[in-house]
Amino acid sequence: MEYITFALGKGRLAKKTLELFEQIGITCEEMKDKDSRKLIFVNEELKLKFFLSKGPDVPTYVEYGAADIGIVGKDTILEEGRKLFEVMDLGFGKCRMCVCGPQTAQEVLKHHEHIRVATKYPNIAKDYFHNKKHQTVEIIKLNGSIELAPIVGLSEVIVDIVETGSTLKENGLVVLEEVCPLSARMVVNQVSMKMENERISKIIRDLKEKL
Ligand code: PRP
Repeated sequence: MEYITFALGKGRLAKKTLELFEQIGITCEEMKDKDSRKLIFVNEELKLKFFLSKGPDVPTYVEYGAADIGIVGKDTILEEGRKLFEVMDLGFGKCRMCVCGPQTAQEVLKHHEHIRVATKYPNIAKDYFHNKKHQTVEIIKLNGSIELAPIVGLSEVIVDIVETGSTLKENGLVVLEEVCPLSARMVVNQVSMKMENERISKIIRDLKEKL
């Protein structure tokens, strides 16, 4: 039997994913050791492998077949635009992709003025403003702490993830428009879905029963 390999994005989603997998009898004890610097973990009995990567790299591993299955946020799936099957919503990691800024930016948005949009998600932002709103904007790519941009005058608005809303609130910003809802998704390599259909379908069925 071949191994089925899972790519998990490091961080919050990985922890929740492992908890969910435990409920369907898929465990990987080795992976729970927080001090370990190991990158790949094996469950010999079930012929499964797991590895942790940076979230945005998960769709890349899955498209190329280096991983058969990936667990990743919908934001990353949309941003990366890789060829893969999105097979299921895992229901956790719920949040929203939003256009945010100071309340005063609402006017600018309404009147379609040329605005600067800072974001970690340039493709999502481009698609939203250019294709859905038919609005010309300048996208400025940042790598984190996006809320800083309108505060220090780098941009009028941002496109970013809002979960509890506390980061916005503590920085005097508000949600101006909602782009789309987000949550953790399971993605599968297109060839693996055919070659390992039975085993992968069983994992999906078992997980669906627990949700
Ligand atoms: C994310 C996101 C927001 C914040 C939203 O940032 O970019 O800044 O969480 O959460 P909240 O609505 O519950 O406050 P993350 O913590 O991933 O760090 P980053 O700024 O480096 O992107």
